[in-house]
Amino acid sequence: MRQLTILTGLISIISFGAAHADEAPQLQRQGTATQLIVDGQPFLILGGELGNSTASDPDYLKPLWPNLTAMGINTLFVPVEWDQIEPVQGQFDFHVIDAAIAQARQNDTRLVLLWFGAWKNSMSTYAPAWVKQNSTTYALARDNTGVAQNILSPFDPDNLKADKTAFVALMTHLKATDSHHTVIMVQVENEIGMLPVVRDYSPAANAAYAGQVPTTLIAWLKAHKAKLDPKLEAQWAAAGYRSQGTWIEVFGDSDATEEIFQAWSFATFVEAEAKAGKAAYDLPMYVNAALNRPDKRPGDYPSAGPLPHLFDIWKAGAPSIDILAMDHYWADFTDWARRFKRYDNPLLIPESNQAGFHQAPGNAFFAFGELDAMSFSPFSIENLPNGDPLIETYATLKSLTPLILAHQGKGTMRGFRAPVTLDGKVDETSQTFDLDGYRFSANMIYPWMPKDKQDLAAHGGLIIKTGKNEFIVAGTGITLTFKDPNGRDQIGIEQIVEGHMEEGKFIEGRWLNGDQSHQGRHLTIPDGKTSILRLRLYTYR
Ligand code: DGJ
Repeated sequence: MRQLTILTGLISIISFGAAHADEAPQLQRQGTATQLIVDGQPFLILGGELGNSTASDPDYLKPLWPNLTAMGINTLFVPVEWDQIEPVQGQFDFHVIDAAIAQARQNDTRLVLLWFGAWKNSMSTYAPAWVKQNSTTYALARDNTGVAQNILSPFDPDNLKADKTAFVALMTHLKATDSHHTVIMVQVENEIGMLPVVRDYSPAANAAYAGQVPTTLIAWLKAHKAKLDPKLEAQWAAAGYRSQGTWIEVFGDSDATEEIFQAWSFATFVEAEAKAGKAAYDLPMYVNAALNRPDKRPGDYPSAGPLPHLFDIWKAGAPSIDILAMDHYWADFTDWARRFKRYDNPLLIPESNQAGFHQAPGNAFFAFGELDAMSFSPFSIENLPNGDPLIETYATLKSLTPLILAHQGKGTMRGFRAPVTLDGKVDETSQTFDLDGYRFSANMIYPWMPKDKQDLAAHGGLIIKTGKNEFIVAGTGITLTFKDPNGRDQIGIEQIVEGHMEEGKFIEGRWLNGDQSHQGRHLTIPDGKTSILRLRLYTYR
Protein backbone atom coordinates (compact mmCIF):
# COMPACT_ATOMS: atom_id res chain seq x y z
CA MET A 1 0.00 0.00 0.00
CA ARG A 2 2.80 2.36 1.00
CA GLN A 3 4.71 1.44 -2.18
CA LEU A 4 1.64 2.28 -4.23
CA THR A 5 1.35 5.73 -2.63
CA ILE A 6 5.00 6.49 -3.38
CA LEU A 7 4.53 5.30 -6.96
CA THR A 8 1.39 7.40 -7.47
CA GLY A 9 3.25 10.42 -6.07
CA LEU A 10 6.09 9.86 -8.50
CA ILE A 11 3.75 9.54 -11.47
CA SER A 12 2.01 12.78 -10.59
CA ILE A 13 5.34 14.62 -10.26
CA ILE A 14 6.50 13.28 -13.61
CA SER A 15 3.26 14.03 -15.43
CA PHE A 16 3.10 17.54 -13.91
CA GLY A 17 6.66 18.18 -15.13
CA ALA A 18 5.86 16.90 -18.62
CA ALA A 19 2.68 18.96 -18.95
CA HIS A 20 4.54 22.08 -17.93
CA ALA A 21 7.36 21.46 -20.41
CA ASP A 22 4.75 21.13 -23.14
CA GLU A 23 3.29 24.57 -22.62
CA ALA A 24 3.88 27.37 -25.08
CA PRO A 25 6.59 29.91 -24.20
CA GLN A 26 5.37 32.43 -21.67
CA LEU A 27 6.59 35.12 -19.27
CA GLN A 28 6.91 34.68 -15.53
CA ARG A 29 8.03 36.92 -12.66
CA GLN A 30 10.95 36.06 -10.43
CA GLY A 31 11.45 38.76 -7.79
CA THR A 32 11.84 42.05 -9.64
CA ALA A 33 12.71 40.28 -12.93
CA THR A 34 10.53 38.91 -15.71
CA GLN A 35 11.76 35.67 -17.23
CA LEU A 36 10.96 33.98 -20.49
CA ILE A 37 9.87 30.38 -19.88
CA VAL A 38 10.58 27.91 -22.69
CA ASP A 39 9.75 24.20 -22.35
CA GLY A 40 8.84 24.89 -18.73
CA GLN A 41 12.27 26.35 -17.87
CA PRO A 42 13.62 29.92 -17.65
CA PHE A 43 15.47 30.82 -20.83
CA LEU A 44 18.12 33.46 -21.50
CA ILE A 45 18.30 34.66 -25.10
CA LEU A 46 21.88 34.79 -26.38
CA GLY A 47 20.69 35.95 -29.75
CA GLY A 48 21.46 37.53 -33.05
CA GLU A 49 19.19 39.20 -35.59
CA LEU A 50 19.48 38.39 -39.27
CA GLY A 51 19.86 41.14 -41.83
CA ASN A 52 16.48 42.07 -43.29
CA SER A 53 16.60 39.99 -46.48
CA THR A 54 18.68 36.97 -45.44
CA ALA A 55 15.81 34.64 -44.49
CA SER A 56 13.60 35.54 -47.46
CA ASP A 57 15.20 32.68 -49.44
CA PRO A 58 15.59 29.40 -47.51
CA ASP A 59 18.43 28.33 -49.83
CA TYR A 60 20.33 31.50 -49.00
CA LEU A 61 19.85 30.97 -45.24
CA LYS A 62 20.66 27.27 -45.12
CA PRO A 63 24.46 27.37 -45.61
CA LEU A 64 24.81 30.10 -42.97
CA TRP A 65 23.79 27.82 -40.09
CA PRO A 66 27.18 26.24 -39.27
CA ASN A 67 28.62 29.71 -38.81
CA LEU A 68 25.62 30.90 -36.79
CA THR A 69 25.72 27.96 -34.39
CA ALA A 70 29.52 28.28 -34.03
CA MET A 71 28.92 31.79 -32.67
CA GLY A 72 27.09 30.28 -29.72
CA ILE A 73 23.73 31.91 -30.31
CA ASN A 74 20.71 30.02 -28.98
CA THR A 75 18.09 32.23 -30.67
CA LEU A 76 17.84 33.82 -34.10
CA PHE A 77 15.62 36.86 -34.75
CA VAL A 78 14.10 36.35 -38.21
CA PRO A 79 11.82 38.64 -40.25
CA VAL A 80 8.46 37.49 -41.64
CA GLU A 81 7.45 39.65 -44.59
CA TRP A 82 3.81 40.47 -45.13
CA ASP A 83 4.27 40.84 -48.92
CA GLN A 84 5.86 37.39 -49.04
CA ILE A 85 3.24 35.52 -47.00
CA GLU A 86 0.17 37.17 -48.55
CA PRO A 87 1.08 38.06 -52.15
CA VAL A 88 -2.58 37.80 -53.12
CA GLN A 89 -5.16 39.04 -50.67
CA GLY A 90 -6.47 36.17 -48.57
CA GLN A 91 -4.02 33.60 -50.02
CA PHE A 92 -1.25 32.72 -47.62
CA ASP A 93 2.06 31.07 -48.38
CA PHE A 94 4.16 30.18 -45.35
CA HIS A 95 6.82 28.06 -47.02
CA VAL A 96 9.63 30.53 -46.25
CA ILE A 97 8.84 30.65 -42.54
CA ASP A 98 8.26 26.89 -42.39
CA ALA A 99 11.75 26.43 -43.84
CA ALA A 100 13.30 28.80 -41.28
CA ILE A 101 11.60 26.87 -38.46
CA ALA A 102 12.76 23.51 -39.83
CA GLN A 103 16.33 24.77 -40.27
CA ALA A 104 16.38 26.29 -36.78
CA ARG A 105 15.14 23.06 -35.25
CA GLN A 106 17.77 21.04 -37.08
CA ASN A 107 20.35 23.39 -35.61
CA ASP A 108 18.91 23.35 -32.09
CA THR A 109 18.21 27.08 -32.20
CA ARG A 110 15.02 28.96 -31.25
CA LEU A 111 13.45 31.72 -33.29
CA VAL A 112 11.93 35.08 -32.54
CA LEU A 113 9.78 36.10 -35.50
CA LEU A 114 9.67 39.75 -36.54
CA TRP A 115 6.38 40.77 -38.12
CA PHE A 116 7.32 43.18 -40.91
CA GLY A 117 3.70 44.16 -41.55
CA ALA A 118 2.18 47.61 -41.83
CA TRP A 119 5.39 49.28 -40.64
CA LYS A 120 9.09 48.51 -40.92
CA ASN A 121 11.36 51.36 -39.81
CA SER A 122 8.44 53.79 -40.05
CA MET A 123 7.76 52.96 -43.72
CA SER A 124 5.26 50.53 -45.26
CA THR A 125 7.54 48.88 -47.79
CA TYR A 126 6.64 45.34 -46.66
CA ALA A 127 2.93 45.82 -47.44
CA PRO A 128 1.86 43.57 -50.33
CA ALA A 129 1.38 45.11 -53.76
CA TRP A 130 -2.40 44.89 -53.43
CA VAL A 131 -2.13 47.26 -50.46
CA LYS A 132 0.58 49.52 -51.90
CA GLN A 133 -1.32 50.03 -55.14
CA ASN A 134 -4.63 50.88 -53.53
CA SER A 135 -4.26 53.96 -51.36
CA THR A 136 -7.94 54.71 -51.88
CA THR A 137 -8.79 51.75 -49.69
CA TYR A 138 -5.57 51.64 -47.66
CA ALA A 139 -5.03 55.25 -46.65
CA LEU A 140 -1.58 56.74 -46.33
CA ALA A 141 -0.36 59.08 -43.63
CA ARG A 142 0.17 62.68 -44.75
CA ASP A 143 2.62 65.35 -43.72
CA ASN A 144 1.53 68.80 -42.50
CA THR A 145 1.24 70.06 -46.08
CA GLY A 146 -1.04 67.19 -47.06
CA VAL A 147 1.56 65.20 -49.04
CA ALA A 148 1.06 61.42 -48.89
CA GLN A 149 3.87 59.43 -47.22
CA ASN A 150 4.86 55.82 -47.88
CA ILE A 151 3.45 55.07 -44.44
CA LEU A 152 0.08 53.44 -43.87
CA SER A 153 -2.12 55.64 -41.71
CA PRO A 154 -2.90 54.07 -38.32
CA PHE A 155 -6.21 55.95 -38.44
CA ASP A 156 -7.63 53.87 -41.30
CA PRO A 157 -9.62 50.83 -40.10
CA ASP A 158 -8.98 49.10 -43.47
CA ASN A 159 -5.25 49.19 -42.80
CA LEU A 160 -5.77 47.61 -39.41
CA LYS A 161 -8.11 44.99 -40.82
CA ALA A 162 -5.69 43.95 -43.56
CA ASP A 163 -2.59 43.83 -41.33
CA LYS A 164 -4.46 42.10 -38.51
CA THR A 165 -5.88 39.45 -40.84
CA ALA A 166 -2.38 38.54 -42.05
CA PHE A 167 -0.92 38.59 -38.54
CA VAL A 168 -3.67 36.33 -37.22
CA ALA A 169 -3.11 33.97 -40.14
CA LEU A 170 0.58 33.80 -39.20
CA MET A 171 -0.15 33.11 -35.53
CA THR A 172 -2.78 30.51 -36.46
CA HIS A 173 -0.27 28.80 -38.73
CA LEU A 174 2.38 28.77 -35.98
CA LYS A 175 -0.08 27.32 -33.50
CA ALA A 176 -0.96 24.55 -35.96
CA THR A 177 2.56 23.70 -37.09
CA ASP A 178 5.15 24.67 -34.47
CA SER A 179 4.38 22.01 -31.89
CA HIS A 180 8.01 22.01 -30.68
CA HIS A 181 7.90 25.70 -29.83
CA THR A 182 10.83 26.62 -31.99
CA VAL A 183 9.30 30.10 -32.13
CA ILE A 184 9.51 31.54 -28.63
CA MET A 185 8.39 35.13 -29.13
CA VAL A 186 6.98 37.48 -31.75
CA GLN A 187 7.86 41.09 -32.51
CA VAL A 188 4.85 43.06 -33.72
CA GLU A 189 5.86 45.43 -36.56
CA ASN A 190 9.37 46.92 -36.63
CA GLU A 191 10.58 50.27 -35.29
CA ILE A 192 7.25 52.02 -35.64
CA GLY A 193 7.49 55.81 -35.89
CA MET A 194 6.20 58.76 -37.90
CA LEU A 195 8.52 60.58 -40.36
CA PRO A 196 9.33 63.25 -41.45
CA VAL A 197 6.84 65.12 -39.29
CA VAL A 198 5.69 64.57 -35.73
CA ARG A 199 2.29 63.08 -36.59
CA ASP A 200 -0.04 61.95 -39.33
CA TYR A 201 -1.99 64.93 -40.77
CA SER A 202 -4.44 62.89 -42.87
CA PRO A 203 -8.09 64.01 -42.59
CA ALA A 204 -8.91 61.12 -40.22
CA ALA A 205 -5.90 61.95 -38.07
CA ASN A 206 -6.78 65.64 -37.91
CA ALA A 207 -10.34 64.80 -36.88
CA ALA A 208 -9.04 62.53 -34.10
CA TYR A 209 -6.61 65.23 -32.92
CA ALA A 210 -9.50 67.68 -32.59
CA GLY A 211 -11.46 65.10 -30.57
CA GLN A 212 -11.31 64.09 -26.91
CA VAL A 213 -8.46 62.22 -25.25
CA PRO A 214 -9.81 58.67 -24.80
CA THR A 215 -11.03 57.81 -21.31
CA THR A 216 -8.78 54.70 -21.17
CA LEU A 217 -5.71 56.92 -21.43
CA ILE A 218 -6.99 59.34 -18.79
CA ALA A 219 -7.79 56.39 -16.50
CA TRP A 220 -4.20 55.10 -16.91
CA LEU A 221 -2.74 58.53 -16.10
CA LYS A 222 -4.83 58.78 -12.94
CA ALA A 223 -4.14 55.23 -11.78
CA HIS A 224 -0.37 55.59 -12.34
CA LYS A 225 0.01 59.27 -11.42
CA ALA A 226 2.85 58.67 -8.93
CA LYS A 227 4.83 56.52 -11.37
CA LEU A 228 4.37 58.34 -14.70
CA ASP A 229 7.33 59.22 -16.88
CA PRO A 230 8.47 62.59 -15.42
CA LYS A 231 8.22 64.44 -18.75
CA LEU A 232 4.68 63.22 -19.36
CA GLU A 233 3.69 63.94 -15.78
CA ALA A 234 5.05 67.50 -16.09
CA GLN A 235 3.10 68.05 -19.30
CA TRP A 236 -0.15 66.80 -17.77
CA ALA A 237 0.53 68.84 -14.58
CA ALA A 238 1.20 72.04 -16.57
CA ALA A 239 -2.19 71.68 -18.23
CA GLY A 240 -3.84 71.24 -14.80
CA TYR A 241 -4.16 67.42 -14.51
CA ARG A 242 -7.34 67.62 -16.56
CA SER A 243 -9.41 64.46 -16.65
CA GLN A 244 -11.07 65.28 -19.93
CA GLY A 245 -10.63 67.49 -22.94
CA THR A 246 -8.94 67.57 -26.33
CA TRP A 247 -5.29 66.53 -26.70
CA ILE A 248 -4.24 70.17 -26.56
CA GLU A 249 -6.42 70.86 -23.50
CA VAL A 250 -5.04 67.86 -21.57
CA PHE A 251 -1.38 68.01 -22.57
CA GLY A 252 -0.81 71.55 -23.92
CA ASP A 253 -0.17 72.83 -27.43
CA SER A 254 3.23 71.43 -28.42
CA ASP A 255 5.17 68.93 -30.52
CA ALA A 256 5.28 66.71 -27.46
CA THR A 257 1.47 66.56 -27.38
CA GLU A 258 1.29 65.68 -31.07
CA GLU A 259 3.80 62.90 -30.44
CA ILE A 260 1.69 61.56 -27.55
CA PHE A 261 -1.35 61.60 -29.82
CA GLN A 262 0.48 59.74 -32.57
CA ALA A 263 1.89 57.21 -30.08
CA TRP A 264 -1.63 56.50 -28.88
CA SER A 265 -2.76 55.82 -32.45
CA PHE A 266 0.15 53.43 -33.10
CA ALA A 267 -0.28 51.71 -29.72
CA THR A 268 -4.00 51.10 -30.14
CA PHE A 269 -3.49 49.79 -33.69
CA VAL A 270 -0.83 47.37 -32.43
CA GLU A 271 -3.04 46.41 -29.49
CA ALA A 272 -5.82 45.31 -31.83
CA GLU A 273 -3.50 43.14 -33.90
CA ALA A 274 -1.57 41.70 -30.92
CA LYS A 275 -4.78 40.89 -29.07
CA ALA A 276 -6.19 39.10 -32.09
CA GLY A 277 -2.84 37.35 -32.69
CA LYS A 278 -2.69 36.15 -29.10
CA ALA A 279 -6.26 34.85 -29.33
CA ALA A 280 -5.00 32.63 -32.17
CA TYR A 281 -1.75 31.66 -30.41
CA ASP A 282 -0.69 33.14 -27.10
CA LEU A 283 3.04 33.77 -27.44
CA PRO A 284 4.94 36.60 -25.70
CA MET A 285 4.91 39.71 -27.91
CA TYR A 286 6.94 42.89 -27.98
CA VAL A 287 7.45 46.04 -30.04
CA ASN A 288 10.90 47.54 -30.70
CA ALA A 289 11.97 51.17 -30.61
CA ALA A 290 14.37 53.20 -32.74
CA LEU A 291 16.07 55.46 -30.20
CA ASN A 292 15.66 59.21 -30.42
CA ARG A 293 18.70 61.44 -30.48
CA PRO A 294 18.47 63.88 -27.59
CA ASP A 295 18.96 66.96 -29.78
CA LYS A 296 16.35 66.04 -32.40
CA ARG A 297 12.63 66.81 -32.62
CA PRO A 298 9.99 64.12 -33.09
CA GLY A 299 9.66 63.63 -36.84
CA ASP A 300 13.41 64.19 -37.24
CA TYR A 301 13.66 60.92 -35.33
CA PRO A 302 10.86 58.35 -35.86
CA SER A 303 8.18 60.04 -33.77
CA ALA A 304 5.90 58.22 -31.36
CA GLY A 305 7.55 54.80 -31.18
CA PRO A 306 7.70 52.86 -27.89
CA LEU A 307 10.36 55.15 -26.39
CA PRO A 308 10.86 55.59 -22.64
CA HIS A 309 9.25 59.06 -22.57
CA LEU A 310 6.14 57.46 -24.16
CA PHE A 311 6.07 54.22 -22.15
CA ASP A 312 2.88 55.23 -20.33
CA ILE A 313 1.09 55.92 -23.59
CA TRP A 314 2.18 52.56 -25.06
CA LYS A 315 1.46 50.60 -21.87
CA ALA A 316 -2.01 52.15 -21.62
CA GLY A 317 -2.78 51.74 -25.33
CA ALA A 318 -1.29 48.28 -25.93
CA PRO A 319 -1.75 46.08 -22.84
CA SER A 320 -1.41 42.91 -24.97
CA ILE A 321 2.18 43.87 -25.75
CA ASP A 322 4.37 42.37 -23.04
CA ILE A 323 7.57 44.31 -23.62
CA LEU A 324 8.72 47.60 -25.11
CA ALA A 325 12.14 46.67 -26.45
CA MET A 326 15.30 48.65 -27.13
CA ASP A 327 17.17 48.62 -30.43
CA HIS A 328 20.56 50.00 -29.57
CA TYR A 329 22.64 51.60 -32.30
CA TRP A 330 24.80 54.13 -30.49
CA ALA A 331 26.15 55.20 -27.13
CA ASP A 332 25.28 55.42 -24.31
CA PHE A 333 24.20 51.84 -23.76
CA THR A 334 24.14 52.01 -19.96
CA ASP A 335 21.86 55.02 -19.77
CA TRP A 336 19.42 53.79 -22.43
CA ALA A 337 19.28 50.26 -21.05
CA ARG A 338 18.49 51.60 -17.57
CA ARG A 339 15.65 53.66 -19.04
CA PHE A 340 14.09 50.71 -20.85
CA LYS A 341 13.96 48.66 -17.66
CA ARG A 342 11.00 49.91 -15.69
CA TYR A 343 8.82 48.46 -12.93
CA ASP A 344 6.41 47.27 -15.64
CA ASN A 345 8.92 46.61 -18.44
CA PRO A 346 11.74 44.03 -18.59
CA LEU A 347 14.84 44.76 -20.67
CA LEU A 348 14.80 43.03 -24.05
CA ILE A 349 17.40 43.95 -26.67
CA PRO A 350 16.45 42.49 -30.08
CA GLU A 351 19.01 44.57 -32.00
CA SER A 352 22.33 46.07 -31.12
CA ASN A 353 24.68 47.85 -33.44
CA GLN A 354 26.62 45.91 -36.04
CA ALA A 355 29.24 48.63 -36.42
CA GLY A 356 29.59 48.72 -32.64
CA PHE A 357 30.23 45.02 -32.21
CA HIS A 358 33.39 45.74 -30.27
CA GLN A 359 31.19 47.18 -27.49
CA ALA A 360 29.02 44.07 -27.40
CA PRO A 361 30.90 42.09 -24.71
CA GLY A 362 30.64 44.90 -22.14
CA ASN A 363 27.04 45.61 -23.15
CA ALA A 364 26.00 41.96 -22.79
CA PHE A 365 27.64 41.53 -19.36
CA PHE A 366 26.06 44.78 -18.18
CA ALA A 367 22.58 44.02 -19.53
CA PHE A 368 22.39 40.52 -18.05
CA GLY A 369 24.25 41.27 -14.80
CA GLU A 370 22.83 44.64 -13.87
CA LEU A 371 19.41 44.78 -15.51
CA ASP A 372 18.20 41.16 -15.65
CA ALA A 373 17.93 41.41 -19.44
CA MET A 374 15.94 38.70 -21.19
CA SER A 375 17.89 39.02 -24.41
CA PHE A 376 20.97 40.43 -26.07
CA SER A 377 21.19 40.24 -29.84
CA PRO A 378 23.47 42.03 -32.32
CA PHE A 379 21.94 42.97 -35.66
CA SER A 380 23.11 41.35 -38.92
CA ILE A 381 24.60 38.50 -36.92
CA GLU A 382 25.48 36.50 -40.04
CA ASN A 383 28.15 39.14 -40.69
CA LEU A 384 29.83 38.85 -37.30
CA PRO A 385 33.55 38.53 -38.11
CA ASN A 386 35.27 35.24 -37.27
CA GLY A 387 36.99 35.44 -33.91
CA ASP A 388 34.90 38.40 -32.74
CA PRO A 389 35.16 38.78 -28.93
CA LEU A 390 31.38 38.40 -28.68
CA ILE A 391 31.82 34.67 -29.43
CA GLU A 392 33.89 34.19 -26.27
CA THR A 393 31.42 36.34 -24.34
CA TYR A 394 28.50 34.18 -25.47
CA ALA A 395 30.39 30.99 -24.57
CA THR A 396 31.02 32.41 -21.09
CA LEU A 397 27.43 33.57 -20.68
CA LYS A 398 26.13 30.23 -21.90
CA SER A 399 28.06 28.37 -19.21
CA LEU A 400 26.83 30.91 -16.61
CA THR A 401 23.21 30.80 -17.75
CA PRO A 402 21.83 28.54 -14.96
CA LEU A 403 23.45 30.77 -12.35
CA ILE A 404 22.30 34.01 -13.99
CA LEU A 405 18.72 32.76 -14.29
CA ALA A 406 18.69 31.59 -10.67
CA HIS A 407 19.82 35.04 -9.48
CA GLN A 408 17.64 37.27 -11.68
CA GLY A 409 15.37 39.61 -9.75
CA LYS A 410 16.82 38.76 -6.34
CA GLY A 411 19.33 41.54 -5.72
CA THR A 412 22.26 39.09 -5.66
CA MET A 413 23.80 39.96 -9.03
CA ARG A 414 25.35 43.15 -10.44
CA GLY A 415 26.78 44.09 -13.81
CA PHE A 416 29.14 46.87 -14.87
CA ARG A 417 30.66 48.50 -17.91
CA ALA A 418 31.91 52.01 -18.66
CA PRO A 419 29.41 54.51 -20.06
CA VAL A 420 30.37 55.75 -23.55
CA THR A 421 29.35 59.22 -24.72
CA LEU A 422 27.65 59.92 -28.06
CA ASP A 423 31.01 60.86 -29.59
CA GLY A 424 32.53 57.55 -28.45
CA LYS A 425 34.43 58.77 -25.37
CA VAL A 426 34.72 56.14 -22.62
CA ASP A 427 34.01 57.35 -19.10
CA GLU A 428 36.88 55.93 -17.03
CA THR A 429 35.34 56.63 -13.62
CA SER A 430 35.02 53.48 -11.51
CA GLN A 431 31.53 52.06 -11.14
CA THR A 432 30.71 51.57 -7.46
CA PHE A 433 28.05 49.28 -5.99
CA ASP A 434 27.30 47.29 -2.82
CA LEU A 435 26.75 43.53 -2.64
CA ASP A 436 26.68 41.21 0.37
CA GLY A 437 27.84 44.00 2.69
CA TYR A 438 30.89 44.89 0.56
CA ARG A 439 31.43 47.99 -1.56
CA PHE A 440 32.89 47.10 -4.95
CA SER A 441 34.64 49.49 -7.32
CA ALA A 442 34.74 48.22 -10.88
CA ASN A 443 37.27 49.82 -13.18
CA MET A 444 37.20 48.95 -16.89
CA ILE A 445 40.98 49.24 -17.27
CA TYR A 446 43.48 46.38 -17.09
CA PRO A 447 46.34 47.87 -15.05
CA TRP A 448 49.23 45.95 -16.61
CA MET A 449 48.91 47.17 -20.19
CA PRO A 450 49.04 50.71 -21.67
CA LYS A 451 45.53 52.16 -21.61
CA ASP A 452 45.65 53.32 -25.22
CA LYS A 453 46.33 49.75 -26.38
CA GLN A 454 43.11 48.52 -24.74
CA ASP A 455 39.58 48.38 -26.15
CA LEU A 456 37.99 50.03 -23.10
CA ALA A 457 34.55 50.26 -24.76
CA ALA A 458 34.42 46.44 -24.98
CA HIS A 459 35.18 45.90 -21.30
CA GLY A 460 32.64 44.91 -18.66
CA GLY A 461 31.58 42.17 -16.34
CA LEU A 462 29.13 40.79 -13.85
CA ILE A 463 29.31 39.49 -10.30
CA ILE A 464 27.01 37.02 -8.57
CA LYS A 465 26.89 36.35 -4.84
CA THR A 466 27.05 32.56 -4.52
CA GLY A 467 27.58 32.27 -0.75
CA LYS A 468 28.57 34.23 2.33
CA ASN A 469 31.66 36.23 1.28
CA GLU A 470 31.80 34.27 -1.98
CA PHE A 471 31.20 35.50 -5.54
CA ILE A 472 31.47 34.41 -9.14
CA VAL A 473 32.94 37.17 -11.31
CA ALA A 474 32.95 37.05 -15.11
CA GLY A 475 34.00 39.58 -17.69
CA THR A 476 36.73 41.05 -19.80
CA GLY A 477 39.21 43.89 -19.16
CA ILE A 478 38.05 44.66 -15.61
CA THR A 479 39.61 45.41 -12.24
CA LEU A 480 37.67 45.10 -8.98
CA THR A 481 38.61 46.48 -5.58
CA PHE A 482 36.69 46.15 -2.31
CA LYS A 483 35.83 48.27 0.75
CA ASP A 484 33.74 48.19 3.89
CA PRO A 485 30.86 50.60 3.09
CA ASN A 486 30.91 51.72 6.73
CA GLY A 487 34.64 52.44 6.60
CA ARG A 488 35.34 50.41 9.78
CA ASP A 489 37.13 47.28 8.57
CA GLN A 490 39.71 46.35 5.95
CA ILE A 491 38.68 43.89 3.26
CA GLY A 492 41.08 41.19 2.15
CA ILE A 493 41.10 38.63 -0.62
CA GLU A 494 40.85 35.15 0.86
CA GLN A 495 41.17 33.50 -2.52
CA ILE A 496 40.70 34.03 -6.25
CA VAL A 497 40.40 30.92 -8.39
CA GLU A 498 40.10 30.86 -12.17
CA GLY A 499 37.74 28.23 -13.51
CA HIS A 500 34.82 27.32 -15.69
CA MET A 501 31.21 26.29 -15.20
CA GLU A 502 29.78 22.83 -15.74
CA GLU A 503 26.02 22.43 -15.30
CA GLY A 504 25.85 25.41 -12.97
CA LYS A 505 28.87 24.33 -10.87
CA PHE A 506 32.22 26.09 -10.69
CA ILE A 507 35.15 23.85 -11.63
CA GLU A 508 38.46 25.07 -10.26
CA GLY A 509 41.49 25.86 -12.43
CA ARG A 510 44.48 28.06 -11.55
CA TRP A 511 44.66 29.72 -8.13
CA LEU A 512 45.35 33.40 -8.78
CA ASN A 513 47.55 34.92 -6.10
CA GLY A 514 50.75 36.94 -5.96
CA ASP A 515 51.24 39.06 -9.06
CA GLN A 516 47.86 37.90 -10.42
CA SER A 517 46.03 39.66 -7.56
CA HIS A 518 48.67 42.41 -7.20
CA GLN A 519 49.62 40.77 -3.84
CA GLY A 520 46.01 40.75 -2.61
CA ARG A 521 45.04 44.26 -3.76
CA HIS A 522 42.55 43.53 -6.57
CA LEU A 523 40.87 41.09 -8.92
CA THR A 524 41.59 41.72 -12.58
CA ILE A 525 40.88 40.17 -15.99
CA PRO A 526 43.08 41.26 -18.93
CA ASP A 527 41.96 43.17 -22.00
CA GLY A 528 41.16 40.69 -24.78
CA LYS A 529 40.51 37.77 -22.40
CA THR A 530 37.18 36.59 -20.99
CA SER A 531 37.33 34.72 -17.68
CA ILE A 532 35.22 33.27 -14.90
CA LEU A 533 36.72 33.67 -11.42
CA ARG A 534 35.57 32.64 -7.96
CA LEU A 535 36.31 35.33 -5.41
CA ARG A 536 36.29 34.92 -1.62
CA LEU A 537 36.67 37.95 0.62
CA TYR A 538 37.30 38.37 4.35
CA THR A 539 37.39 41.20 6.86
CA TYR A 540 40.30 42.26 9.08
CA ARG A 541 41.17 45.09 11.46
C1 DGJ B 1 17.04 48.93 -37.42
C2 DGJ B 1 15.99 48.05 -38.04
O1 DGJ B 1 15.07 47.64 -37.06
C3 DGJ B 1 16.59 46.86 -38.76
O2 DGJ B 1 15.56 46.13 -39.39
C4 DGJ B 1 17.61 47.34 -39.75
O3 DGJ B 1 17.01 48.10 -40.74
C5 DGJ B 1 18.67 48.13 -39.04
N1 DGJ B 1 18.09 49.27 -38.38
C6 DGJ B 1 19.76 48.59 -40.01
O4 DGJ B 1 20.78 49.23 -39.37
